[in-house]
Amino acid sequence: MSEPIIAPSILAADFAQLGTEVASVASGDWLHVDIMDGHFVPNLSFGPDVTSTVDGLTAQELDVHLMIEEPEKWVETYAKAGADCIIFHVEAVANEEAALALARKIRDLGVRAGFSVKPGTPIEPWLDRLEHFDEVLVMSVEPGFGGQKFMPEMLDKVRALRSTIDERGLDTVIEIDGGVSAETIRACAEAGCDAFVAGSAVFKQDDRAAAVAELRELATL
Ligand code: DX5
Ligand code: ZN
Repeated sequence: MSEPIIAPSILAADFAQLGTEVASVASGDWLHVDIMDGHFVPNLSFGPDVTSTVDGLTAQELDVHLMIEEPEKWVETYAKAGADCIIFHVEAVANEEAALALARKIRDLGVRAGFSVKPGTPIEPWLDRLEHFDEVLVMSVEPGFGGQKFMPEMLDKVRALRSTIDERGLDTVIEIDGGVSAETIRACAEAGCDAFVAGSAVFKQDDRAAAVAELRELATL
């Protein structure tokens, strides 16, 4: 089993102190950046300028989660802002063909391509398309807000992804997002997740390095 990838989500950080907040999670592997447009989800977060600022504050890879409509209009901007992986929602694109074209566009920008599914979106139609993606982000809460309760039934999607990826010898990374904490991360790892987004579970703790270390230990099988 490979090392778990811990991705603190800066959505839960204190934006008034972005520099120290980002530095406080330097022991995380990736930094997860949640982009919300107030349309695809009923909340707004930040955009390319803050993403670029964050990129300048850390050497960590930026895992950019686009919770926006018309993601195809924005991928170039986020690639320039420093994204190392760009994840779009399949619910935000017209059809499968558009999703595959967008993945190609992201890879052509030299960035890893990922897709995400909301809790109500089945994973089955995408299982034989995984070679087009570097990452799959399974939402274990309704996207839009941090601090929500983990939905354990989403681990069925993770198990389906894990067996397909293993059977076909792919290296697509399975990431889980929403309500991941010391209580829930072990079950995520056992279901087959490689990468774990954690917002409140890290930023609500005084000692962020200890929180990251605890999550890492619990996710190591
Ligand atoms: C929710 C975001 C998450 C959020 C997770 O829409 O996609 O990345 O930051 O926050 P927690 O870990 O607090 O559930
Ligand atoms: Zn996210």
